[in-house]
Amino acid sequence: MSHTITLEPFGIDFPCHEDDTILEAAFKAGLSLRYGCKHGGCGGCKVQISEGEVDYNDHATAISEEEIDAGVALLCCAYAEEDIVITLDDDYSEEELTPEFPLRVYPAKIAELRRVTHDTVHLILSGEELAEYRFNPGQYLEIKVPGSEDTWRCFSMANTPSAEGITELVVKIIPGGAFSSYLDTEAKPGDSVEIRGPYGQFQISETEAEIIMIAGGSGMAPIMAMLKQLVAEKSTRQISFYFGARAVKDLYFIDEINALGEQLDNFRFIPALSAPDPDDDWQGEHGYITDVLARNTDSLRGAEGYLCGPPPMIDAAIDVLRDKGMFNARIRFDKFVQNS
Ligand SMILES: Cc1cc2nc3c(=O)[nH]c(=O)nc-3n(C[C@H](O)[C@H](O)[C@H](O)COP(=O)(O)OP(=O)(O)OC[C@H]3O[C@@H](n4cnc5c(N)ncnc54)[C@H](O)[C@@H]3O)c2cc1C
Ligand code: FES
Repeated sequence: MSHTITLEPFGIDFPCHEDDTILEAAFKAGLSLRYGCKHGGCGGCKVQISEGEVDYNDHATAISEEEIDAGVALLCCAYAEEDIVITLDDDYSEEELTPEFPLRVYPAKIAELRRVTHDTVHLILSGEELAEYRFNPGQYLEIKVPGSEDTWRCFSMANTPSAEGITELVVKIIPGGAFSSYLDTEAKPGDSVEIRGPYGQFQISETEAEIIMIAGGSGMAPIMAMLKQLVAEKSTRQISFYFGARAVKDLYFIDEINALGEQLDNFRFIPALSAPDPDDDWQGEHGYITDVLARNTDSLRGAEGYLCGPPPMIDAAIDVLRDKGMFNARIRFDKFVQNS
């Protein structure tokens, strides 16, 4: 059973199967509606419904009863109960609805998996078809949990599109996590996996503004991809990268970042430890990365922020950036919310 979703004011229709959320159905139709976490927690996919009723799954936390009564819908968790008409915000354009790189499924194999910290794996995938995988650095993919019927997990690409058919991910091992437990205990080079992507709107703007990057944990992945892009473009932008970790044992890719930094004209890397181990020999910054950011910056009016990692870190970092004068519209982020 399927219903028709109409996007006004463009008059664009697409079918929505009863098992798909409206957001999934839009992806399948090759349309790019705005979203963030895809799991009901950020509010990034809210729209106004002008006709029709929707039902919700249990993930829909970022919407209130009052909003539902007023016809607001959270598209990543909403199922059409009948034909739906959505009135998009005035600042949507028809171009935005058609994504630059269409969503596709790619078969791949594990080429390499390397533990970079006690709980983080650098996963390298390869495959002939991956040579065609195009995306903007900062975007993410979904990978199917091996052995599952239809369980997918989100991870950000840590590289730029590769003609050699390589895709790199950085995965935090979560005890009991469906995908990360597989990586921790079973995965080996040569295993087959399935990915689909690209997703997301996290990407570097085409301006010359100063860049402030802030990451925690595996939030490093999309920032690495962005840095590689900036190096490839021979960017002369002023770039500061703040990376927050607890202790020395949680730091990784330090040599890689310094090597990228040497190829950039104006790059500063500021790693900081919030809870170093007693025997850590650490001469760098101490404290939460948001406090370190506040201490190390003056006015950031005119600068752009790129934030990635756990939601509480991002929320705290946004407050600091706003306090320093950064405009909301110049703060871009990907919250690594859990997928399950
Ligand atoms: C846009 C986007 C991009 C992302 N990119 C990355 C990335 O590049 N690297 C990366 O490592 N993660 C990334 N994440 C987060 C990742 O998708 C989730 O943490 C995912 O749930 C991990 O899947 P899993 O199968 O290993 O664990 P799950 O099976 O999903 O989780 C198992 C259990 O762990 C809990 N849990 C889930 N996540 C966490 C957490 N972070 N800390 C503590 N407990 C948790 C859950 O409540 C659940 O009970 C991204 C998320 C989003 C939305
Ligand atoms: S709430 Fe739907 S994308 Fe985050």
